[in-house]
Amino acid sequence: MKGYIFDLDGVLVDTAKYHYIAWKTIAKEFNFELTPQHNEQLKGIGREVSLHQILQWAGKTLSETDFTDTALRKNKLYLEQISSIDSSELLPGVLNFLQLLKAHHKKIALGSASRNARLVLERTGILLLFDAIVDGTMVSKAKPDPEVFLKAAEGLGLPPADCCVFEDAPAGVQAAKSAGMKVIGVGNPEVLKAADTVIPNFLNMKI
Ligand code: BG6
Ligand code: MG
Repeated sequence: MKGYIFDLDGVLVDTAKYHYIAWKTIAKEFNFELTPQHNEQLKGIGREVSLHQILQWAGKTLSETDFTDTALRKNKLYLEQISSIDSSELLPGVLNFLQLLKAHHKKIALGSASRNARLVLERTGILLLFDAIVDGTMVSKAKPDPEVFLKAAEGLGLPPADCCVFEDAPAGVQAAKSAGMKVIGVGNPEVLKAADTVIPNFLNMKI
């Protein structure tokens, strides 16, 4: 493989838990208890799609203004959670693996739904390791649509078949498959059945 494309939340950094905390707080406002099982379905998908899904589960509707306001408040809650993160939030083995790829002159891209991606990469000190960054501000179709990964491959100047994606979310695995890329799931093999292979983390990775 010439190019390696990483999802952000739950793959490079341990921020999936902060999205969960923020959504759980919002869901409570609708008297809805958001469980880890529900949250699994929100991983990797965009902010607005996530809010639509929670409203559907809760059997609630919101006016357009309240919807926009609620999505903004979720983001404020999330930003509060990540206000003091640093490199200690990187998941096990991530920094070593990124440096190993660099040492082997491999290209590295980010393919994330998050509009906060650059901020998170900056705060955790890995921003400059990326050759291309595609985040939630640059795509119009959320995962499982392949747009984010196709744009990341384009940013690296590589055809999809030369790229390998690391993902922790079923929606992201599906997106990478639809993009025609190899997918390595990071996390639970039961949840990431559609991935080509699943690793628990980046410790002891070789290329
Ligand atoms: C993804 C997360 O990376 O980004 C989702 O897995 C999140 O949980 C999505 O909803 C959008 O993030 P943000 O930061 O733009 O609200
Ligand atoms: Mg993720």
